[in-house]
Amino acid sequence: MSRIDGKAAAAALRERIAAKVAAFRQQVGRAPGLAVVLVGEDPASSVYVGSKGKATIEAGMESFTHRLNAATSEADLLALVKKLNADERVDGILVQLPLPAHVDESKVLDTIDPSKDVDGFHVINAGKLAVGQEALVPCTPYGCIHLLKEELGDLSGLHAVVIGRSNIVGKPMAQLLLAENATVTIAHSRTRNLQEIARTADILVAAVGRPEMVKGDWIKPGATVIDVGINRLPPAEEGARGKLVGDVATEEAEGVAKAITPVPGGVGPMTIAMLLANTLRAAHAREGLEAPEL
Ligand code: GUN
Repeated sequence: MSRIDGKAAAAALRERIAAKVAAFRQQVGRAPGLAVVLVGEDPASSVYVGSKGKATIEAGMESFTHRLNAATSEADLLALVKKLNADERVDGILVQLPLPAHVDESKVLDTIDPSKDVDGFHVINAGKLAVGQEALVPCTPYGCIHLLKEELGDLSGLHAVVIGRSNIVGKPMAQLLLAENATVTIAHSRTRNLQEIARTADILVAAVGRPEMVKGDWIKPGATVIDVGINRLPPAEEGARGKLVGDVATEEAEGVAKAITPVPGGVGPMTIAMLLANTLRAAHAREGLEAPEL
């Protein structure tokens, strides 16, 4: 059994990206730019946005962070997105989710220029991924595929079970696995006999947001397990912070699986690395240059 070290994989990838950013700067005369937009003061989102800005600068890219008041109108947010679409210095645009309830999320996402949609959430990019065309791919599933290919090499013919059907993780994950010639089952909260289905997986991806739902006896011996969940348990004592756990009961799973991503330190660090990779790709495409191998 081994733990898949997402932190190390992300650090290695970010180093390769920084080298390609330097080459891009030399060739084009400017750095790739990433704009991140946060509406409101959700503490977790605020931390994510801060980390994204820091990683962008560390990669040698230009970072534009827009922190807007929670009361910002949909019209004002759409106006900002359009301004960023037109800004030549900006290659990637990310609007942090969730958005306040008074804003129509899909309207905002579909206003982003698809060529700058480094989250891969625009219907054009989701559609391109579904039909097998070159697309900007959502960062979390993209990171999971990267880890799986590093761990297993060829995924062809393996049975992958994805638990979760969100637009951010489950659905694009299934598409990416299919593109790697895996046999893919998408399971979700209404699936019957979920445990039995999970036990048939060579690759089990848990993306449901339920703390430690996947137990050791849900896992086929020798399977590779990717835990996308980030759940904070209630604190043991008042004033303390609850423990961070995934969707998989990691210790139980470790006795059964061949390899598993830990939480934290598995999928999480890969997400930001893939965001930088997408920004680099978008910058190359916008300059009419071929995407670099990473
Ligand atoms: N909120 C949680 N995950 C994500 C993500 O991958 N992208 C954006 N934009 N918001 C998120």
